[in-house]
Amino acid sequence: MKSKNTRPVNGKCSSADIPWVLVLPFTLFLIIYLIAIFISSQYPSSPVIHATSLRSRNIKKCDIFSGEWISDKKAHYYSGETCHLMLDQANCIKNGRPDREFMNWRWKPDECELPLFDAMEFLKIVKGKSMAFVGDSVGRNQMESLLCLLASVASPEDISHRYTSLNRNTRHWFFQDYNFTLATFFSPFLVRNIETDPNGFSFKSTINLYLDEADKEWTAHIESFDFVIISAAQWFFRKLVFYENGQVVGCFNCQKQNITELPNLYGLRKVIRTALRTLNDLKGYNGVTFFRTFSPTHFENGEFNTGGRCARTKPFAKEEMRLEGYFLEAYLTQAEEFRAAEKVARKRGLQFWLLETTEAILLRPDGHPDIYGRMKDKNVSVVDCVHWCLPGPIDTWNEFLLYFLKLGNQTSSA
Ligand SMILES: *[C@@H]1O[C@H](CO)[C@@H](O)[C@H](O)[C@H]1NC(C)=O
Ligand SMILES: *[C@@H]1O[C@H](CO)[C@@H](O)[C@H](O)[C@H]1NC(C)=O
Ligand SMILES: *[C@@H]1O[C@H](CO)[C@@H](O)[C@H](O)[C@H]1NC(C)=O
Ligand SMILES: *[C@@H]1O[C@H](CO)[C@@H](O)[C@H](O)[C@H]1NC(C)=O
Repeated sequence: MKSKNTRPVNGKCSSADIPWVLVLPFTLFLIIYLIAIFISSQYPSSPVIHATSLRSRNIKKCDIFSGEWISDKKAHYYSGETCHLMLDQANCIKNGRPDREFMNWRWKPDECELPLFDAMEFLKIVKGKSMAFVGDSVGRNQMESLLCLLASVASPEDISHRYTSLNRNTRHWFFQDYNFTLATFFSPFLVRNIETDPNGFSFKSTINLYLDEADKEWTAHIESFDFVIISAAQWFFRKLVFYENGQVVGCFNCQKQNITELPNLYGLRKVIRTALRTLNDLKGYNGVTFFRTFSPTHFENGEFNTGGRCARTKPFAKEEMRLEGYFLEAYLTQAEEFRAAEKVARKRGLQFWLLETTEAILLRPDGHPDIYGRMKDKNVSVVDCVHWCLPGPIDTWNEFLLYFLKLGNQTSSA
């Protein structure tokens, strides 16, 4: 057993698009810490629930999300040298990471085997179709993993320049041989949001979040997609003012006397509700929806700006880590909102799947770039314990994805 203080501290989180890893002041961390305590006191009766309790009942075959990482030298499918479709942000070996063991682990569910990723099989299912990742840069991280997993059998073309009206972090790829479009829509809050700092983006400024208005960045384009993988959570430590029906209903960490402080999970819950409702309500949408659950950070012995690191080179064993505190609350919030939306989807004949990646990835403190991180679009090193090295444990999220694509394909053709 590890002693408590060497565990990743729970209840804090870092943003997806890293620059603030450098600039966010320590005071904010203190505030976050105090608010995390406040949040836990808001949920006094919340027990330490094992994540499986909210698991989908319609997967009878095997609970692929409960298991452990086992050593397997053949576990990685590609390398940073062979795949050029990822950002330097995730290319840890290129950035100088010396150890290799983090690539050599395979996820072994307790009750069965998780099939390896088969690029041909994947492309057969998605042939003539389109798939979109919607969310923050951890969502894009998974999309880049998928690009690299598929690159062994097909070369995608970057067609992002055809979508000039979209955020520059929104990307589109086209696999001509399979007539398959793969996109990532950058929408870290999923709802309409306005940066209030007149000088533009800064990590100290406040963001106005319109909790009941889904972000047009993705909603205006999503209707025709056949598969949508949606996620949110990493950005909910910003200063946020929550709006509903166009009125201020409260804020997170805004320190304004006339605005009620609310937990950030209040915002996260509403945002997920709005995003999933939007998909259910879109008349022309007939896609398969996946919600990907919370991706924990693993800063240890400090914060990102106080020497915090994620320098481990091996996974945790199952007994060494338990989902608790903020991570657990965020996960439960997501799973609850998902279950509610899934009921509506079922009536409408839509497939909704929960990609419960949290438990597996929680055990991978060794999978982050750590000091071999890079700021996006800049040749500047950062300590990154938020994103995941490629290849690495996030490739497993796409093994999960393929598992469900196959299940869904069986169901729909049965
Ligand atoms: C390619 O797929 C799209 C749907 O994603 C479809 O509308 C189009 O007809 C397909 N084109 C060919 C040449 O099969
Ligand atoms: C809070 O006070 C400020 C300044 O007095 C005012 O501009 C703002 O509209 C108030 N906000 C609310 C929600 O009442
Ligand atoms: C990035 O910076 C490093 C060191 O500062 C330098 O050696 C390297 O050539 C730079 N790479 C690029 C692509 O500019
Ligand atoms: C998926 O289902 C379709 C029929 O609905 C079938 O043609 C196709 O071969 C299936 N793909 C796989 C990989 O099983």
